[in-house]
Amino acid sequence: MDFTIKSGNPEKQRTACVVVGIFESHRLSAAAEAIDTASKRYLSNILKRGDIDGKIGQSLLLHNVPGTSSARVLLVGCGKGKDLNTSHYREIVTNSINKLKLTSATEAVSYLAELNVKVNSKESKDEYWKIRQLVEISQSTLYQFNQFKTKNKKAKNKLRKLVLTVPDRKHVTAGERAIRDGIAIGKGVSLARDLANLPPNICTPSYLADQAKKIGKAQKSVKVTVLDEAAMEKLGMGSLLSVSQGSRQPAKLISMEYKGGKKDARPFVLVGKGVTFDTGGISIKPSAAMDEMKYDMCGAASVFGTVSAVAEMGLPINVVGVVPTVENMPDGEATRPGDIYTSMSGQTIEVLNTDAEGRLILCDALTYSEKFNPATIIDIATLTGACVIALGKHASGLLSNNDSLAKDILDAGETAGDRSWQLPLWDEYQHQIDSPFADMANVGGREAGTITAACFLSRFTKKFKWAHLDIAGTAWLTGKNKGATGRPVPMLVQYLMDRCE
Ligand code: BES
Ligand code: MN
Ligand code: ZN
Repeated sequence: MDFTIKSGNPEKQRTACVVVGIFESHRLSAAAEAIDTASKRYLSNILKRGDIDGKIGQSLLLHNVPGTSSARVLLVGCGKGKDLNTSHYREIVTNSINKLKLTSATEAVSYLAELNVKVNSKESKDEYWKIRQLVEISQSTLYQFNQFKTKNKKAKNKLRKLVLTVPDRKHVTAGERAIRDGIAIGKGVSLARDLANLPPNICTPSYLADQAKKIGKAQKSVKVTVLDEAAMEKLGMGSLLSVSQGSRQPAKLISMEYKGGKKDARPFVLVGKGVTFDTGGISIKPSAAMDEMKYDMCGAASVFGTVSAVAEMGLPINVVGVVPTVENMPDGEATRPGDIYTSMSGQTIEVLNTDAEGRLILCDALTYSEKFNPATIIDIATLTGACVIALGKHASGLLSNNDSLAKDILDAGETAGDRSWQLPLWDEYQHQIDSPFADMANVGGREAGTITAACFLSRFTKKFKWAHLDIAGTAWLTGKNKGATGRPVPMLVQYLMDRCE
């Protein structure tokens, strides 16, 4: 997709489709008003017929509107107009792209960034934010994953070019910056979705290691290293290695070091769970929907997406992506419930449930990450079914040993439209993972499963400002829109952008 910025009158645009907003009770946005005047009240007359009343989600496609230079005008419902919030705006933009997809227009000029989007009663979103959202949402909405279909591929999107308008020439520079950033973030999101949507017979730990090396080749600023099982053995990663014991696929530990900041500036470290398939191991999962456990590497995918976006943007900071990646399978060598393993930290773990494997690979990756001397460390993982029950698909679970880091993540999520919600990490919960035989157990019972998983990780991150994101509910969708979402790439990139000032 090609994006450009301009400012100019909607009725004068020579294009396949002009996109303008209308509000409830037949009120027109400024762009719709201009077309209405140029067309001698053509829009007002149509609105009076009542085919569309302006609610969010509605739209009406008009052809050959008199007095205009474009083939089509797409009216998009924008609700009441006042008190339009960021979620409304995202919904309106998504709807406009979905409707454009149904036409054969190859190009469109969108006036939706002229909408007044409220942050609160006093503040509104600026042109940069509105344009960047348009760019990110367009790319996301046009995303397809067709590579394994030999027939009945979804029709290719015809839309090739989107012209985004700003109210005044003085906004063009901010608009162009928004396009550049939006494209980089959109690419990162698509990369994360592609990796996650791949079938688990292709996307193995070795495949992910190769993809990391590819990023290292494409981006000079990214140095990639891959540790094999022998190297991990030497480092004492008994916990991580226990998980892949039952698989034919060897485990890998990938590091992607992006250097955009001062040489000695402490890096922001991202650690992503990369279980390329989670059968549960000997504590095997039920078969229903087990295919979805190919998505158990979405944390890893989000780290890939974020590192490549940050490198493409050339952010003036240092970032390290660490990806422990394994396949969790049951066989004669697989971990048994009751096994005890020693982690790289020296702490011992009694594995009571082999399906609680995410924390077992993350703990060693977190200990390993100490060597980067992180400014902050954030892990991202499809860690618990309990998180899906608690928060559903709208918010990722957030737990942290540092409230100001948690706030930065919450704020970044708010800005990026990729939100998380904080859960408590109180000491009271720690007792649930006591073990009679080892330093800790890998499960803490049915109660507060998301929190006890984070309690486990917290024992490996005491030295640093650390946050854990449980993305079990947000990383992929089921049902008719089944597929990876690329979350939380937008939030992570925003968090890192916010650290650049
Ligand atoms: N990958 C799963 C978590 C998961 C399950 C994410 C379903 C999304 C949908 C994780 O490895 C797991 O199996 N967790 C267990 C932990 C339990 C044994 C303490 C779970 O949530 O059931
Ligand atoms: Mn599991
Ligand atoms: Zn898992």
